[in-house]
Amino acid sequence: MLVSAKEMLTKAKAGKYAVGQFNINNLEWTKAILQTAQELQSPVILGVSEGAGKYMCGYKTVVGMVNGMLEELNITVPVALHLDHGSFEGAKACINAGFSSIMFDGSHYPIDENIAKTTELVNACNVLGLSLEAEVGSIGGEEDGVVGAGECADPDECKAIADLGVTMLAAGIGNIHGKYPDNWAGLSFETLDAVQAKTGDMPLVLHGGTGIPADMIKKAISLGVAKINVNTECQLAFQEATRKYIEEGKDQQGKGFDPRKLLAPGAEAIKATVKEKMELFGSVGKA
Ligand code: 13P
Repeated sequence: MLVSAKEMLTKAKAGKYAVGQFNINNLEWTKAILQTAQELQSPVILGVSEGAGKYMCGYKTVVGMVNGMLEELNITVPVALHLDHGSFEGAKACINAGFSSIMFDGSHYPIDENIAKTTELVNACNVLGLSLEAEVGSIGGEEDGVVGAGECADPDECKAIADLGVTMLAAGIGNIHGKYPDNWAGLSFETLDAVQAKTGDMPLVLHGGTGIPADMIKKAISLGVAKINVNTECQLAFQEATRKYIEEGKDQQGKGFDPRKLLAPGAEAIKATVKEKMELFGSVGKA
């Protein structure tokens, strides 16, 4: 059964480790992540962006697929199904579809509007027992080939949003989605420290987990990060393994064209990436 992310993140913050959010794109992705979490006895959060939700034929399809896998694969570790960077409408749709966790990203609104919309969702999620992630300070990333720098959140605004009763808070600390440019300045630990000082026990969320060096990840966890999002790195691992399979001509040998064979190296590569991250984040054996 899907669970809210509240308990796993409260434990992670107290135990000074982080739970990984791995974004899913299809059945192979989902299966690879769930099997790895089960094997390593780690809690896990499956992230679904609005685009990926649309791609997978809508939120209800995703909920049906994930619930089916939890049962058929005998998954016993805590699993949360989480909307990633949701709009207000998307959040409501996922609440109705049966997600167990929601992110409402109001970081692009003026703070008052972010507060008003987040408050409305806090109430809805509390009634239903769902966890809710809010965001302050937008996470940069590539748009039309231009890599925007990640903003640093205002710690007072973080406190205002945390005090609304959200479960977890994503605060921009110079992190960005996708690959980091060579001239990236690194994470702002000064900002993270100030945010944690204002928000206390609130589990903090680090987006843009792809490509952040291990020492920065560890330092971020020591300063209150309890959830780390990884997406691009699994995509790159899948792509590289699939490319190798085809370049080696394996799709042309015997039944190598069978999608169950063609997609297998990519799925194994996702498993290896997820394992590496769970070990780095310290969530292994914490189920
Ligand atoms: P990356 O794609 O950079 O790993 O970021 C994932 C993320 O933060 C999803 O919200």
